[in-house]
Amino acid sequence: MRNHYCGYLNESLIDQEVTLCGWVNHRRDHGGVIFIDLRDREGIVQIVFDPKVESAFFVAEQVRNEYVLRVKGKVRQRPEDTANPDLPTGQVEVVVQTIEILNASETPPFHLDEAHEVSEDKRLKYRYIDLRRPDMQNRLQLRAKVNSFLRKFLDEQDFLEIETPMLTKATPEGARDYLVPSRTHPGEFFALPQSPQLFKQLLMMSGMERYYQIVRCFRDEDLRADRQPEFTQLDIEMSFIDETIIRDLMESMIRQLFKEMIDVDLAESFPVMTFAEAMRRYGSDKPDLRIPLELTDINDLMAEVEFKVFAQPANDSNGRVAAMCVANGAEMLTRKQIDDYTKFVGIYGAKGLAYIKVNDVSTGREGLQSPILKFLPDDAIEKLLERTQAKTGDIIFFGADKAKIVNESLGALRLKIGEDLDLIEDCWKPLWVIDYPMFDWDEKEKRLTALHHPFTAPDITDPEVLAASPETCLSRAYDMVLNGNEIGGGSIRIHNLAMQSAVFKALGIGQKEAQEKFGFLLEALKYGCPPHGGIAFGMDRLIMLMCGASSIRDVIAFPKTQTASCLLTSAPSEASKTQLKELHLRTRQAVV
Ligand code: AMO
Ligand code: AMP
Repeated sequence: MRNHYCGYLNESLIDQEVTLCGWVNHRRDHGGVIFIDLRDREGIVQIVFDPKVESAFFVAEQVRNEYVLRVKGKVRQRPEDTANPDLPTGQVEVVVQTIEILNASETPPFHLDEAHEVSEDKRLKYRYIDLRRPDMQNRLQLRAKVNSFLRKFLDEQDFLEIETPMLTKATPEGARDYLVPSRTHPGEFFALPQSPQLFKQLLMMSGMERYYQIVRCFRDEDLRADRQPEFTQLDIEMSFIDETIIRDLMESMIRQLFKEMIDVDLAESFPVMTFAEAMRRYGSDKPDLRIPLELTDINDLMAEVEFKVFAQPANDSNGRVAAMCVANGAEMLTRKQIDDYTKFVGIYGAKGLAYIKVNDVSTGREGLQSPILKFLPDDAIEKLLERTQAKTGDIIFFGADKAKIVNESLGALRLKIGEDLDLIEDCWKPLWVIDYPMFDWDEKEKRLTALHHPFTAPDITDPEVLAASPETCLSRAYDMVLNGNEIGGGSIRIHNLAMQSAVFKALGIGQKEAQEKFGFLLEALKYGCPPHGGIAFGMDRLIMLMCGASSIRDVIAFPKTQTASCLLTSAPSEASKTQLKELHLRTRQAVV
């Protein structure tokens, strides 16, 4: 129906006849002449209707925003004073000879240029209109190009793209499952995969050696700007490898991806940081290295002080006392901001936020200002200033509590201050985080949980050593972090039956439960399982970062809301009585 995209017209086509199809972005009637901005996937061009071409002009008078048109006309140079330098096609326009209305449109619920003023709910309800916006078109185009690049890269590296089931048995990744009732097996359910983890491991046991899949994963968990109930992973698994092989390959894939897609040069070699170091210096296992703020341990300096708030955690093996020095903070932060930060760290369980303002570092105690100064002896103050390298004009914040609370609260405060004081460097800072603990203690359930998933190999080979002190074991997991976002995570896997059983046991999964849930895996481990490992990247997060969007919803064509519903289709919705009967289900009135 067309021979050119609107967005591709330029001066090389002057005097040529073109046929365009697209939507009316704007119509302007300049008494006598009608201008329409015609929009298609590739851009916008101005088309002009001259009253002398009567039949076309008559039709143009009737069109409104979002009408779908097909026009034929001649490309001409725009007069100099009417050229639009903001538009790639701004030097030219098309003088229309014939026009055909392919479809009319009612007045749309919002104008495309005003989408930033309407609520996200409205944009999601009319997503098909929202997606017409050039911003959204560009993001989805980038997404398609990224998928195509990754497929090409992995195909060239001898990976096989293999599909794994969606109707399956639970694969635990730490979230709730989405369940699908079985009609043919009354009372039984499939689970939608939280990831293809077990299948990709089985594929290694099947001798496929190198697997990948761009695959949908389903997790029923609390949603945030970077989490959706269904999201896409680039899922990868390889046999006969170790950590360095996979990390090197993945690094080079991501580096090439950024170069080719958005012309960004990522570091030659990504820094590698242990989990312990990341927590110690940044209070987070996904540190944003663009922010020049660090936590400093001061347990040793505070062990003997009078101030109980500090002395107690300083003497507790699970406690931590940490300081964070903010350059020029004493000058830049108001009293109100400091009070707000105290409330902010409260969200993470911190009971307060002590601080010292450094008004003049050369005069020692005299030059400091703080409500806690009176509790601290001179030598502790002196060492504190030295260790935090505080300078005149700085402010030092303190966290003192269980290490988990101090890390979470100061880690979050670090990000907040980074944003508030505009300290975030405009650059890309990828890194690997390694040497995670195998297990985390779940205080509520009073048991160990897997920090990654239960199929991650420990860094020891003897199952008895793991059984003897699981909480001290480190895992062979690695996460790729970019600007404070975990974009990928993976590990070398357990390929030994005794070790897999020991890990289940440490997690409090008894033999019977292990058989019921993972019997097929345990069985498969008996028949020649190669050493293997892999990784999965969160594609939505990766694309979000690449195009500078603030939520993964902006890079997903049809995302769900924060409450996991689809405003466009009104899913989820009730099932009919017949469907429920066939599925052997009866619904209960929700108990409020
Ligand atoms: P993991 O659970 O770390 O690992 O997931 C891998 C990556 O997927 C992304 N991600 C999400 N993105 C959007 N919404 C969500 N709800 C969501 N959850 C996770 C993150 C994360 O880094 N099977 C393992 C991988 C492996 O070991 O190979 C797994 O799924 O970017
Ligand atoms: P208090 O003695 O409770 O009045 O606290 C004195 C100062 O220490 C105040 O500035 C509090 O905000 C701060 N503070 C109290 N508890 C903590 C804590 N756990 N970590 C850091 N600072 C704290």
